[in-house]
Amino acid sequence: MAEYTPSELLTLVNSSRVSAGDERVCAITSRIVADLFRTIESFQVTPDEFWSAMKWLTRLGQADMVGLITAGLGFDRLLDILEEEADEAAGRSQGTPRAIEGPLYVPGAPLSQREVRLDEGNEGKGELFVMEGRVLGLDGKPVPHAVVDVWHCNELGRYSHFDPSQPDYNLRRRIETDADGNYRFRSFLPPGYAIPPNSPVSELFGLLGRHGNRPAHIHFLVSGGGKRALTTQVNIPGDTFLDDDFAFATRDGLVVSMEKAEPSPEYSSLGVTGPFTLVHFDFLLQEALNDSETIAASRYQTAS
Ligand SMILES: [Fe+2]
Repeated sequence: MAEYTPSELLTLVNSSRVSAGDERVCAITSRIVADLFRTIESFQVTPDEFWSAMKWLTRLGQADMVGLITAGLGFDRLLDILEEEADEAAGRSQGTPRAIEGPLYVPGAPLSQREVRLDEGNEGKGELFVMEGRVLGLDGKPVPHAVVDVWHCNELGRYSHFDPSQPDYNLRRRIETDADGNYRFRSFLPPGYAIPPNSPVSELFGLLGRHGNRPAHIHFLVSGGGKRALTTQVNIPGDTFLDDDFAFATRDGLVVSMEKAEPSPEYSSLGVTGPFTLVHFDFLLQEALNDSETIAASRYQTAS
């Protein structure tokens, strides 16, 4: 019963209400819809193009790959940058840098005291290494009974729970620090990660002329002792994609130093019997300002 110009239609879409609704959701949705209207008009997007994009979004969700696209288009890093700008303005920029969680965290990994073999069932699948260090406050004091939640991909670059060929919690563990804040684990150096081929994500990346590779990395959520929980990753030096990460998530302060080590009684409880690579890394946690900051900000937990 009515004829509209695009701009009249946009006004109508963004102002039709039968109740007040949520002010913030209304404002953000209005902006997004306006930006998309403008994009469609500017590029003279055809109905075929529009509906194939909508089908792609549907397939993306069905494949549970939304979190890969957000990382690949920079949104995950953007949120970190904005949080850090706010931290800096509040004088809270010290400690171990944060890095994106990524979409492949799974809560509830088996918990061990002080040390663990992350590589159980994966022996010989890569270069043997031990990572050790302490969880400390900014004052240098140890954080006893902190929990270091660690996960990395398998020798093929795939993560358990998302790769049905791997056992539950493969290469995922939690370590509770001892009274001096110590943690350590044995594993193998993981390879880099690549987005799954023949997937909605690889389709878009192909059209964008982009690769979908991440350099070798290990994920951590570190929390406890009333400190501000930290979500971060460390990178293995020398990787081709260290400065060309598809998720834009690598950071200078998070590339570990590796040294060659010989087996010694100190490492016998981890079953180390030959030469290995040793990484020393301390996690420095800020003070939390409130209870919610003490909880590792896992998207998985947030969603539930
Ligand atoms: Fe990862």
